[in-house]
Amino acid sequence: MSEHEFGVGSAHAKAILFGEHAVVYGAPAVAIPVPQLRVSVLARCAPERSNGVRVTDAGAGVPVPDRWSRTGADDPALRELVTNFFVATETRSRAIDLTVDCRIPPGRGLGSSAACARAVVYALGDLFDRPVDARLTFDLVQTAERVAHGSPSGVDTVATGSAVPIWFQGGVAKELVMDLDGVFVIADSGVSSATSVAVSELRRRFDGDPAAKAGFLERSARITAAAVEDLAHARVGAVGHRMTENQALLGEFGLGIAETDRLVTAAVAVGCAGAKLSGGGLGGCVVALADVAHPVEAVETALRVAGAVATWTVPADLSAR
Ligand code: PMV
Repeated sequence: MSEHEFGVGSAHAKAILFGEHAVVYGAPAVAIPVPQLRVSVLARCAPERSNGVRVTDAGAGVPVPDRWSRTGADDPALRELVTNFFVATETRSRAIDLTVDCRIPPGRGLGSSAACARAVVYALGDLFDRPVDARLTFDLVQTAERVAHGSPSGVDTVATGSAVPIWFQGGVAKELVMDLDGVFVIADSGVSSATSVAVSELRRRFDGDPAAKAGFLERSARITAAAVEDLAHARVGAVGHRMTENQALLGEFGLGIAETDRLVTAAVAVGCAGAKLSGGGLGGCVVALADVAHPVEAVETALRVAGAVATWTVPADLSAR
């Protein structure tokens, strides 16, 4: 195996349809890819220096995570990932320059940090001509996610590399059959939030109220299981209803904010089968399910009128079959 002059890697965004937060405690979740929002990474060996990993924003037009906004920034999460890559692949440790072109808005529950880490793993594998299988990729991305977020469930780690919807629980992912006659519309509230803050605030609440924790996990798991059944039978209305149910649960636990609540209300008012916040919450994105009777353009317009700064669509028949 020989070293190349450079290596490239890319990954995409994701949206969580069911089970966010509960998945951190071992409950199931469902996520879909958002393939049009991508990150690409170019990796090169750098002249030896003490500071092992240097990250440069390629200037993609959307802000990269704050920690990369300085050219030549040292990113602790990616430094950990690169160190672990060298150990796991028995590659001689080197100084690395990473140029990141991230088109995934950060802090919006779209998995930008996991996608960036995944793209880095692929770029390193390409640079050093090392095979990185799914297991090693998962472990390496999780090392970066742990530094960035504390206790990642791994759902973002898998979903940012999957071309099809996934069911995820306790580190295990399965491809999901999804053949709905509709479209998911993702709307960005424009409010940035840190997953680590949302996760730790919820954890604090759970620590003081074990019954509330048990109730949250039980309800989330029940909604997700019912939704998987509805997905298997292509019941658009029922899937939407479960999304709105999941939104109510997340709202009860303080994860909604006025901006995302407004988007959910607007999506339902314009006739979507259901809508909910997606990801960590306390800002970020909303995902709505529009059935064929409701033109996507009308849904996007309603969401923009309600304050969305951007919208994206994902067909709901992204099947693993
Ligand atoms: O906000 P995001 O995209 O990082 O979503 C993370 C989903 C959580 O369940 C809140 C955290 C996790 O690790 O699964």
